[in-house]
Amino acid sequence: MLFYVMPLYFIGIGLYDEKDVSLRGLGTIKKCDVVYLEDYTSMLSCGIKKLEKLYGKKIILSSREMVENKAEDSILKEALEKNVAFLVIGDPMSATTHIDLRLRAEKAGIKCFVIHNASVFSAVGFTGLQLYKFGRTTSIPFQEENWHPETPYDVIKENRKNGLHTLLLLDLRPNEKRFMTVNDAIKYLLTIENKRKEKVFSKSMLCVGCARLGSLKPCIKAGNAEELLKEDFGKPVHCLIVPGKLHFAEEDALELFKIHK
Ligand SMILES: C[S@@+](CC[C@H](N)C(=O)[O-])C[C@H]1O[C@@H](n2cnc3c(N)ncnc32)[C@H](O)[C@@H]1O
Repeated sequence: MLFYVMPLYFIGIGLYDEKDVSLRGLGTIKKCDVVYLEDYTSMLSCGIKKLEKLYGKKIILSSREMVENKAEDSILKEALEKNVAFLVIGDPMSATTHIDLRLRAEKAGIKCFVIHNASVFSAVGFTGLQLYKFGRTTSIPFQEENWHPETPYDVIKENRKNGLHTLLLLDLRPNEKRFMTVNDAIKYLLTIENKRKEKVFSKSMLCVGCARLGSLKPCIKAGNAEELLKEDFGKPVHCLIVPGKLHFAEEDALELFKIHK
């Protein structure tokens, strides 16, 4: 039988700034002894100092490397004897890394509680594209020598075959100040199309580029790939949607974001 020691709280702090935390999230953070914040799945519009001021707590930044490979020596070790909060920008269960951390914690006998919040997965609903018509999500990584995965292309192919929309998450490394843009993502997909020539993605394909979803200044633009390539989406974080078959209500909604009306 597992003996629960202290709890580990996974708390979503939303997508915009320090004020997006829920009342329950804030109350929980205030009673925690140690507060960690992941800084690799998104980026808030405010700095860490604003969070520390509102929460009244010192925040420890945790890198992906730390969460994936060293949590047993830090977060999980501390959660055996203290109240620990693990803050996630967006929703805490919207990244596989955090689901894995929770499972590792439970296996170590640490009771976990999750306080949800808005995520990019729900914020894309702002485009007017219906959430239940999205197929498999995929990500586009930064290109590295000898590593050019074509999975995003295959996922779009499969989703479009079924009339479904594809959400493409774009790589980011905030600690290196590197953020993939909508433009980079389109270029990446066109390069694969050039090589594979399966007519999965083309310059005339309708795309929806999104930046800073959940903020007070989101940027959403709909147009064909060639048009979007010329657009500036501004500050991070960006994602791209390749729509599948559109319902007339979705077509109407996208009109609001069309570059050329
Ligand atoms: C694993 S997802 C989850 C991010 C976050 N934890 C959440 O709950 O939304 C990470 C990807 O979401 C996208 N993303 C995150 N925040 C975003 C935002 N505010 N606007 C647009 N895209 C965003 C980026 O493309 C990023 O690569």
